[in-house]
Amino acid sequence: MKYFMDMHCHCLPGIDDGARSMEESLQMLQQAYADGIRTVIATPHFHHRRGHAAKEVILEKVQQVQEAIRETCPDLKLYAGNELYYSSSLPDIIAEEKVCTMAGSQYVLIEFSPDTEYAEMRNALINIQTQGVWPILAHIERYFCLVKKPALAAELADMGIYLQVNAGGVLGNYGRKEKSLIKKMFAKGNISFVATDAHDTERRKQILSEAAAYVEKKFGEEVADACFFKNPQAVVNNSII
Ligand SMILES: [Fe+2]
Repeated sequence: MKYFMDMHCHCLPGIDDGARSMEESLQMLQQAYADGIRTVIATPHFHHRRGHAAKEVILEKVQQVQEAIRETCPDLKLYAGNELYYSSSLPDIIAEEKVCTMAGSQYVLIEFSPDTEYAEMRNALINIQTQGVWPILAHIERYFCLVKKPALAAELADMGIYLQVNAGGVLGNYGRKEKSLIKKMFAKGNISFVATDAHDTERRKQILSEAAAYVEKKFGEEVADACFFKNPQAVVNNSII
């Protein structure tokens, strides 16, 4: 694997709790580029109550950042997405095409509150699937119900839900039980994506290389290649994984 793709990050300027300015956006992406990342899907938060940027604004920001980064990172490609916080109104919002899917594909990145009950999460993801889109569950290591009972995460994967983990989670930065869930899912072949979920250049960095080396060593080159490159590429190409 020569380069990585990062399909979950908050690098667009001034629209969520990620980069606060264009300057910080460029710093984040330069950090990503130096780490070997060449394709990025920017996924600003969409929350029905806490607020969100309009789809048009996200698309415009992606263009602005793409233009601004050209000089320092000429072959870095940026796409628009959203990290969609689940609410009962979300399936309709997706159907009305009011939010960004992942790089304009059929894939959507979905997040829940960490304390969401499993039955609620499962039903919600089924509701999303009925819209004809392909849900990716963001950072599975965040949800207490899955950390407590990894078999439930496997059940979601069996339902056709794509599972994403954060690079920090892979490395154990979020805790031992969280890492254990991730390892179990890797062992079962249930992880489709590893991404940074970067918010800045200090605390939540846009770095994948360390996690990629770990996954390659523990689970093999093929698995690493799929999670850090091939599967995100399939998202951009709108092809089924
Ligand atoms: Fe995120």
